[in-house]
Order: sequence, then structure tokens, then C-alpha cells
Amino acid sequence: MQTTEVTEETWDRLLAVAHGGKNLVTDFATMGAIYAPIAAAKGSFVIAQVGQSLDGRIATVAGDARDVSGPDGLIHLHRCRALVDAVIVGVNTVTADDPRLSVRLVKGDDPVRVIVDCHGQLDGNESLFHDHGAPVLVFQSIDAPRKTLANATVVRLPSEACGLDTGMMLQALAERGLHRILVEGGARTIARFIEVGHVDRLHVSISPIIIGSGPSGINLSPIQRLCEAKRPATTVYSLGSDILFDCSFQRRPLSIRQSDQVRVADLA
Ligand SMILES: NC(=O)c1ccc[n+]([C@@H]2O[C@H](COP(=O)([O-])OP(=O)(O)OC[C@H]3O[C@@H](n4cnc5c(N)ncnc54)[C@H](OP(=O)(O)O)[C@@H]3O)[C@@H](O)[C@H]2O)c1
Repeated sequence: MQTTEVTEETWDRLLAVAHGGKNLVTDFATMGAIYAPIAAAKGSFVIAQVGQSLDGRIATVAGDARDVSGPDGLIHLHRCRALVDAVIVGVNTVTADDPRLSVRLVKGDDPVRVIVDCHGQLDGNESLFHDHGAPVLVFQSIDAPRKTLANATVVRLPSEACGLDTGMMLQALAERGLHRILVEGGARTIARFIEVGHVDRLHVSISPIIIGSGPSGINLSPIQRLCEAKRPATTVYSLGSDILFDCSFQRRPLSIRQSDQVRVADLA
């Protein structure tokens, strides 16, 4: 198992690479091997991160997920947020956790907050619409009921049988200058990105608690045989309180149909 040292100086340099466009000239070992690939990513880059228990749960049955990760796992999550342009969560995570999605545990800028709310379930009373934090963007289906969401940009996309197309979401974010993306959960939202091959990297952070029952971190379509299982190249790190599995995926390029691009409609 590997360890990685992130000193204050290292972190400042990673932030400079991520947001200042500086080239990564130092080797990964001294720059924090976990974070350098995120900071140095060019073009569209998607990292998914799951904080789970020893028994693979991300929350209790009642939806309590606040302290699944240990203190170092939480700092890791905030570092990931600070290195990306936008963080994506599903609507169930917003209703269950009422999250801020900020980087309050580390130095850096808060990412744009993106919510996948296909059917327009949010009512606008959720904290992130009123906390004066980073901008909020909500993806909805063009068929969703039109509601006013204060302090948010609503982007309406055509929905297909399987929901909103992750490629179209990434394209819409890229058009706003948001290229480096963290998909933070929950399980169904992460699964949709993994199923279509739109994840470059998956971080699974495991904390030494046993929850016993509750949702698992990633819900992919069932497979019959283990030979069909995904086996990404993985490096294991000790974060301190938690263990991190840093998994590398073969990313499928975005293929957006022209006809779909022109159907993307913004409601300020
Ligand atoms: N420990 C952690 O790291 C962590 C992180 C985040 C959240 N959580 C926990 O996870 C739980 C929520 O997870 P969850 O899986 O139930 O919900 P979720 O992923 O937050 O949200 C799922 C909802 O978003 C919709 N959705 C997501 N992607 C979509 C797409 N591309 N197109 C259309 N609809 C899309 C889903 O539609 P469908 O119903 O059609 O799939 C579903 O309605 C909460 O308890 C939260 O506390 C834990």
C-alpha cells in the first residue's frame, strides 16, 4: 500500500496546476500521486468518488451518510472538490443530505454545484439555493414541470428511456468552461456515468465502520459471471483514517449528436 504526502507547498502547487494552467513539471511522487492526475488533466476529465463502509454501504437505511468517511477520507473528498471545476450529485443526495458541496476543510475554490433532477423534484427550499455559495446548475428533462429555482441555472435536456444522457450533460458543462468534473454520488448517479464509459477515474474510499444494511456505493446492471466484472487498474493508498482504491478506467469519448446539441435550452 502506498502513502502520499500532501504538504502545504504540495497542495499550493497542485491548485496552481489545476486552476492556473501551469504545467506539471515535478514527478507525481513528490506532488501527491493521488491528486496530480486530477490537477494535470487536460480537456474533459471525470472522476467519481465514493466514501463507503467496510461492508460497502454509503448510508444507513434511513439515508444518514454524513459520517461514513473518517476525517482523512473527508479531507480527501474536499481536496478532490477543490481540484475540479464542477461537482455532480443526484437529486436523492440533495434531498437526503442537504449538502453544501464546499471545500471548507482545505484551501481552494468551491466547484460549481450540479444537480441531476430529471423530473423536477426539487422545490427550491434546499440549502444550496440559498447559502450564497458556489453557483448551482440543475439538469432537468425538457418534460419536467417548470418551477422557479432561486439562484440556479436550469439546463433542460431531452430525456430518453434511460434518463438524461451523461454525454450531453458533460457537453453542456464543457460549453460553460467546466471540464474537470467530480461525480460524487449517490450510487445511481455514479452508475449512470460508469455504465456508459464516461468515467476516467474512480476513487473508492473505505472507512473502518460496519453499517450492516443500507445502499451500496455503485449500482451497476447485474452480470452473470465474474469474468464480466470490471477490473480497473488500481493503486491502493493509505489516507490515514481511511483506505483509498484509486481506479483507472478507459474513458469513452463523448459523442453528441448535432440534433441534440441544439435542443439544449437554458432557463436562467
Ligand atoms: N457516502 C458517499 O460517498 C455518498 C455520496 C453521495 C450520496 N450518498 C448517499 O446516497 C444516497 C442517495 O443515493 P441514490 O443512488 O439513491 O441517489 P442519487 O444518485 O443521489 O440520485 C438518484 C436520482 O437521480 C436520478 N438520476 C441520476 N442520474 C440520472 C440521469 N443521468 N438521468 C436521469 N435521472 C438521473 C435517478 O433517477 P433513476 O431513479 O431513474 O435512477 C434518481 O431519481 C443518500 O443516502 C446519500 O446520503 C453517499
